[in-house]
Amino acid sequence: MIVLENVTKTYYPDSTGLEGVSLKIESGEFVSIVGQSGAGKTTLAKILMAEEQPSEGRVEIGGWDITRIRPREIPELRRQIGVIFQDYKLLPKKTVYENVSFALEVAGAKSKHIHDVVPQVLRIVGLEEKANRFPRQLSGGEQQRVVIARSLVHRPKVLLADEPTGNLDTLNTQDIMDLLVKINAFGTTVVLVTHNREVVNALRRRVITLKDGKVASDHAHGKYTLTV
Ligand SMILES: Nc1ncnc2c1ncn2[C@@H]1O[C@H](COP(=O)(O)OP(=O)(O)O)[C@@H](O)[C@H]1O
Ligand SMILES: [Mg+2]
Repeated sequence: MIVLENVTKTYYPDSTGLEGVSLKIESGEFVSIVGQSGAGKTTLAKILMAEEQPSEGRVEIGGWDITRIRPREIPELRRQIGVIFQDYKLLPKKTVYENVSFALEVAGAKSKHIHDVVPQVLRIVGLEEKANRFPRQLSGGEQQRVVIARSLVHRPKVLLADEPTGNLDTLNTQDIMDLLVKINAFGTTVVLVTHNREVVNALRRRVITLKDGKVASDHAHGKYTLTV
């Protein structure tokens, strides 16, 4: 479902983000991407959400060749990929409910659909009781759960999380990980970028280690190791 063939990303003028990366991620997998700072993890995440184009190579997601995608097709691709980043980017003047519903409104969803979907995704993340709170009235872990709820409104096939627990303590980290595992169990492919050793080792899922923009290792039941 996700295929990268010989993907290289060179940033102007001469910085290498990725170099000759080939990998395949099947539907329904839970994959952790690890590697030291500067290894190319975020570059890979940005290529997968079509925020960056590779300099060379081919990238296919859910049948789309994103190196040939037309600009007007990008919104449709993005709806198939839920994205969670470390800095939550919730709208501070909107409530939890409004932060989530806004993602549907901007996509032109009908209000009946919005009224159906928002409570559903808030229930999945366990925040239906706090729907009327503002972000500042929530803990860091709760805010991240709102971000996850928002990423689910289009029922994405892939959930892409770049350091989603980077700002959280151990307990909140565990909550978020439990939630990602639950979402994966519904059938959503999860691609998790993380530097959290405990998180990766507890998962016992596939681990891809990047080093200097290349795939240094790729194990089906991997452990977090940075030296290969
Ligand atoms: N916008 C950019 N312009 C120039 N170089 C970049 C840019 N983004 C990332 N890089 C470089 O690409 C390499 C990989 O970065 P990144 O993908 O952010 O790594 P990671 O997320 O693993 O820390 C680094 O050497 C970084 O300096
Ligand atoms: Mg990064």
